[in-house]
Amino acid sequence: MDFKRYLVTAALPYANGPVHIGHLAGCYLPADIYVRYLRARKRDVKFICGTDEHGVPITIRAMKEGITPQDVVDKYHAIIKESFADIGISFDIFSRTSNKIHAETSQAFFMNLFNKGVFDERESEQYYDESKGIFLADRYIIGTCPVCGNNNAYGDQCEKCGSTLSPEQLLNPHSALSSAVPVKRKTKHWYFPLDKYEEWLKEWIVDGKRDEWKANVYGQCKSWIDSGLQPRAMTRDSTWGVPVPLPDAKGKVLYVWFDAPIGYISATKELTNQWSDYWCEKDTKLVHFIGKDNIVFHCIIFPAMLKAHGGFVLPENVPANEFLNIEGEKVSTSRNWAVWVNEYVKDFPDQQDTLRYVLCANAPENKDNDFTWKDFQDRINNELVNIFGNFVNRAFVLMHKLCNGRVPKLHIDLMDDADRALMQEIMNSKFKVQNCLEHYKFRDGLFEVIDLARRANKYMQDKQPWITAKTLEETPANQALIDNCLHICLQLTANLAILANPFLPFTAKKMCYMMKVVDRMLEWENAGKMDLLKINYPLRAPELLFRKIEDTEVAAQVEKLRNNLKQAIPAKMETPIKTQEKTTETVKTEAAPETQIALVKKAEISIDEFSKMDLRVGTILKAEKVEKADKLLKLELDMGDEIRTVVSGIALHFKPEEIIGKQVTVVANLAPRKMRGIESKGMILMAQNPDGRLIFVSPLEMASPGSEVR
Ligand code: 2FM
Ligand code: ZN
Repeated sequence: MDFKRYLVTAALPYANGPVHIGHLAGCYLPADIYVRYLRARKRDVKFICGTDEHGVPITIRAMKEGITPQDVVDKYHAIIKESFADIGISFDIFSRTSNKIHAETSQAFFMNLFNKGVFDERESEQYYDESKGIFLADRYIIGTCPVCGNNNAYGDQCEKCGSTLSPEQLLNPHSALSSAVPVKRKTKHWYFPLDKYEEWLKEWIVDGKRDEWKANVYGQCKSWIDSGLQPRAMTRDSTWGVPVPLPDAKGKVLYVWFDAPIGYISATKELTNQWSDYWCEKDTKLVHFIGKDNIVFHCIIFPAMLKAHGGFVLPENVPANEFLNIEGEKVSTSRNWAVWVNEYVKDFPDQQDTLRYVLCANAPENKDNDFTWKDFQDRINNELVNIFGNFVNRAFVLMHKLCNGRVPKLHIDLMDDADRALMQEIMNSKFKVQNCLEHYKFRDGLFEVIDLARRANKYMQDKQPWITAKTLEETPANQALIDNCLHICLQLTANLAILANPFLPFTAKKMCYMMKVVDRMLEWENAGKMDLLKINYPLRAPELLFRKIEDTEVAAQVEKLRNNLKQAIPAKMETPIKTQEKTTETVKTEAAPETQIALVKKAEISIDEFSKMDLRVGTILKAEKVEKADKLLKLELDMGDEIRTVVSGIALHFKPEEIIGKQVTVVANLAPRKMRGIESKGMILMAQNPDGRLIFVSPLEMASPGSEVR
């Protein structure tokens, strides 16, 4: 079907905290790339988002911070909006579900279903806090987990052992708002009969033409439908939310998952008077970008609501990504194990595109993926700097040096196979990237862009115009060969800007500035053209598009993560450490059961990976302070067959003379590092006590120096 317009939504983030890079990778970045591509193709598109400001997550945060829910949503709406803008997520509107237009829209939606008799009205028994006079959501009931004994388990889940619970399973349940023991009370709610839509959903998703949907999305939907759909309450007893617009519904609000997706409609209304073209005309392509935890709401519940209401288009696709872990561990906001976007932009100003690059290149499109700062550094330095940036920079520098700073002419009669092949590659790349983006394969699309730059680098390297330049005195006609090479490289640079633009919009803009072309050149139809830069046109001096990320920056970010975690963990946590210069890295070890949950768990490794480590016993022969470094001791270790120098960050814990003769465990095959001018060959392992004291990891009995530890 030919679509006339596109309506692209990205999941409304709860306004209960800042957004982290897992959110970006999960849905906002792919949505933005898709929309930027559609805009470049001059498609009629609206990109909708905003904050989800209702529901228990908001009230919980308010409770934790000791402020009102309104304060919470005001604070985080502003932070989230700014983070998205800073990283270049180009929504047409970033609204809020606390806006008046949203209350009106979702209430009207509710009444439409109510008046059609869609809802079943049901009474049920729910927990009630008599001292506060309110019904308690499951999250508001706290008690002892029957599985692990955690005294602070919630009525829906124990965050310590991860068990899903119901309030009835908790031992000693009490209200989180008071210490009152909750009692059961009758309450009335309006249920949406999902079961009645089961057949229709089956036809639409399972039997219908949903073969474009990603396997994870389709699979989750199918398994829900196969296991039978149940009616779901669309109202809640609460004071925070959109009031249920019925006379007998005092103290009741719409269920947050009823009102939130309607937020997409109300935000579109807020954006444009033509909102109904986008929502109600059959030739609209509606695409919901979400994270995998939202699949059922967007593929089953919301479509069933839209169907029951009637008159709305249904999503053509719901490209949900999986989760992005950080340094081998699941993101945990409560443990502050996350890379927050607002902090990233402070720590790395002007590095928006590099983050976009890494998150897209490593996007969790088909499975959970891992973000590590080392990979961030490697991808930027090896791919963006060395391939893309290097090519563009060389093309500009050589053009200034060998072609008077102007776009040289193309001598068609002198073109060779390599020239023609590269020109063909440009066209091929356009269609490859296009095909990927049309099918939500953003990683592959980005790979094609870098691949084009890689080929271009190779072309330039093979042609070596700087070598040809040396022949000019003898053979001036060779200038034509230089011209051809740089002409093609510069036209390719313009093409790279167009293809990279959806992914790296800040860079594409910078390239336009360098090429002295207007941003309109970035329109997709221009990709593949070889006359984007006019002959003899003077171009600006190159600016570096990307810079290398230093080891120190990576180390600082890893340390920040670990420090955040430490602050989020009760002081009694054990944090075993490895010491070299810094004494802050954590490693996984057994800990007491009550402390286990907050320990840094690293990703599982294979026995092969473990066996790469050469652990050996060393005996300290000599120890001395390192000048102008309070924390460092220079150690000389007897390793059996050699005397090793190791610099270790333990000077604040031990006097040099105290540790002579001690045996220690050494990571003997660690790459040497210079610290304060001293080459350190290896690292000694230490354990750290809860009070911060360091303890050597030593054999219990004297071992021969150099003995292997395994
Ligand atoms: O999971 C979440 O963060 C929800 N706030 C997403 C809502 S998406 C939409 F339905 F509004
Ligand atoms: Zn538990």
